[in-house]
Amino acid sequence: MKQFDIAVIAGDGIGPEVTAEELKVLDAAAEVYGFKLDYHHYPFGSEHYLKTGEIFPDAAFEEVKGMDAILLGAIGDPRAPVGLIEYGIIAKLRFELDLYVNLRPVRCYDERLCPLKGKGPKEVDMVFVRENTEGAYSGTYGYAHKHLPIEVATQVMVHTRPAIERIIRYAFELARKRNKKKTVTMIDKANALRAQDIWTRVFAEVAKDFPDIKTEHAYIDAACMWMLKNPEWFDVGVCENLFGDIITDVGAMLQGGLGIAASGNIHPGRVSLFEPSHGSAPKYKGQNVANPVASVMAVSMMLDHLGHPQAGQQIEEAVSRALRENRIRSLSAGVQKTSEIGDLLAQAVAG
Ligand code: IPM
Ligand code: MG
Repeated sequence: MKQFDIAVIAGDGIGPEVTAEELKVLDAAAEVYGFKLDYHHYPFGSEHYLKTGEIFPDAAFEEVKGMDAILLGAIGDPRAPVGLIEYGIIAKLRFELDLYVNLRPVRCYDERLCPLKGKGPKEVDMVFVRENTEGAYSGTYGYAHKHLPIEVATQVMVHTRPAIERIIRYAFELARKRNKKKTVTMIDKANALRAQDIWTRVFAEVAKDFPDIKTEHAYIDAACMWMLKNPEWFDVGVCENLFGDIITDVGAMLQGGLGIAASGNIHPGRVSLFEPSHGSAPKYKGQNVANPVASVMAVSMMLDHLGHPQAGQQIEEAVSRALRENRIRSLSAGVQKTSEIGDLLAQAVAG
């Protein structure tokens, strides 16, 4: 029987509650598809930092590197310094494990979930491929004359050709695999940020290797507009890190909100990280009211990555059906119990 070692970092706020439910669903899938999961739980997060001063010790990081996949709940607590734990855990994993693909599906499963009039599952079915290791997130920032009236701050957007090429190639391969509109849209801002024409050029080069895939181009501002006006135009979108961060929040709303949006931080063939796109929502902590659907969708993506695409699809289908049949009545917090949703999805997967 195939066995997987899964690192579980449940984290802060609602993280532990939604993680408990995703593991229920994962266990149900393992039972049906005949594989075994060993969970390795790690306590890291803001809470742990505030108690111990520890963020992500090297020894634990080395262990995590040797796992088959990582599940993350949520990180963030207003009592910790802004960005410290996010960078020390999420960004550290993304950069040091070279998880260069941030894969963010935007799929609406039921018309009632889409805030756009007349749009639903047929129109909202796309996936964003966000470059996940550089751009404005590359850590090349600094200050001069800090705290003086003449203070200067810089944050440099770094784009390297190899990183651009590998992410664009991934996007084309994905469009082929999805076999839907077979279209990749390059999203950049090369008209104003002139150095970004490296994206436009590399995109044109890589496209030559995929004559069966159509290409489109949109500047990031226009892309946000088209998302709201004609979401049906998108199939696979590819972009640099910061633009991907922003446009996928727009995407999350089109599919029903952060209660369902999930994200894979992937290095094909290597240990990768799967997480819900939402934050830790401290005000809902410990009340059994958070919606675990986004975490369950993260598990579905993880199974696809681990070579069990059918199991992943079965989880996705269970979520989709429960939404269509109104057994999951809302994607907002507070409507149903966290554990009730986890139970009904685990049962649906178990069959
Ligand atoms: C995301 C988040 C992160 C990002 C934060 C928490 C650092 O917004 O995963 O989209 O900006 O990438
Ligand atoms: Mg974000």
